[in-house]
Amino acid sequence: MKTPIDVKLVDAQIEKLGVKDLSKATIREIVTLVNWIHEESGKEFVRMEIGEPGLTPPSVGIEAEINALKSGVASKYPMISGVPELKNEASRFIKNFINIDISPNSCIPTVGSMQGGYATFLICANLDAKKDTALFIDPGFPVQKQQYRVMGHKFESFDIFEYRGKKLREKLESYLSKGNINSIIYSNPNNPSWICLTEEELQIIGELATKYDVIVIEDLAYIAMDFRRDLHQPGKPPYQVSVANYTDNYVLLISGSKAFSYAGQRIAVAAISDKIYNRKYPNLLQRFGTEGFGYTFVSRIIYALSSGVSHSAQYALAAMFKAANDGKFDFVKEVKEYGVRAKKMKEMFLDAGFKIVYNKDLDEDIADGFYFTISYPGMEGGELVKELLYYGISAISLLTSGSTRSEGLRACVSQIVPDKMKLLEERLKVWKENHK
Ligand SMILES: Cc1ncc(COP(=O)(O)O)c(C=O)c1O
Repeated sequence: MKTPIDVKLVDAQIEKLGVKDLSKATIREIVTLVNWIHEESGKEFVRMEIGEPGLTPPSVGIEAEINALKSGVASKYPMISGVPELKNEASRFIKNFINIDISPNSCIPTVGSMQGGYATFLICANLDAKKDTALFIDPGFPVQKQQYRVMGHKFESFDIFEYRGKKLREKLESYLSKGNINSIIYSNPNNPSWICLTEEELQIIGELATKYDVIVIEDLAYIAMDFRRDLHQPGKPPYQVSVANYTDNYVLLISGSKAFSYAGQRIAVAAISDKIYNRKYPNLLQRFGTEGFGYTFVSRIIYALSSGVSHSAQYALAAMFKAANDGKFDFVKEVKEYGVRAKKMKEMFLDAGFKIVYNKDLDEDIADGFYFTISYPGMEGGELVKELLYYGISAISLLTSGSTRSEGLRACVSQIVPDKMKLLEERLKVWKENHK
């Protein structure tokens, strides 16, 4: 059977990588493997393995950053709690696009949501000695579990696939009722599956978070990117859905990386509910010497991790938030391109005999966005990753995300510019021929 890239060449590179089962390979290992195959074969790849933004960063952010640097901020340490411009615009942004009130004081800049998550996980693990375990609603972003391993704190997780809608309540309660859970973590829209939790599901999560006194860590890395809803108008419904409508026990992680294509500058905001920000936890006093959640977060944890975030990146995000808040910059329109790509790509894969694994939000078809999930009848995920490499197509297995769908892969649309779309079409044509 003839494939676009020589089977022996690909197999030799897999052998060199030394990962026998590609369903266990990390994103970075697949990146390395594809680079090697590309170098050896000279053939272009359709790269769907990494979630790197594929759009240019907004000029309003870049200009604000340059101006900040020109004004001389580089010689000064930033205040750890953040520059007022960013805190104010973040608070406005949350009101305008989520319709939630969080005071500027409770909006803390972080070095990407990676740091926001790390700091939040760390504080949540130390709120109550009995609550030593976090709960992930999977599938999820694998690096966050890596963060738990680095910290040495415990977590549990379950795949939501079988527990959508009302079923979520019983499943969540089976964990929460044990009394050891300190927080619930998920991303919405979800990396890797692009499922979007419904209002009903968020209400269940919120109610149970209040009942069992746990913190919900809502990762909004893909805020406003459920393109089935028109979420671009500041201050007007519909809004980004959020657990913050149903509980006071939450931290929202809002990243500049994807919604604003600003990943390289590592800037995000952790927005802590005012009630939690001001709440005192005796256990924090024992562990960190301070007992307020927000105060400990800023002056103990972020201080220890990076002592704040570079001024210039803060000014960039502040300017992008401000432009969006003032209705002068439609950030949703910019990233809608991902939805357009996903729709085309899904059609191509379906036509070649693939299936979409996470295909529904209850009775609604899943949105087209940054990621989608695929499987091929009769193949396990590791096998499918490998076989697709013969066709010059790269993706990662869902197993690393805590998904139980061992047959599934995550496909990221961000790098698939029009030229690559044509290449994908050609490659899938050969796949279809070979799998008749
Ligand atoms: C769900 C989720 N959370 C967090 C991040 C990381 O965000 P940041 O670049 O702001 O650290 C990503 C990036 O891919 C993500 O997908």
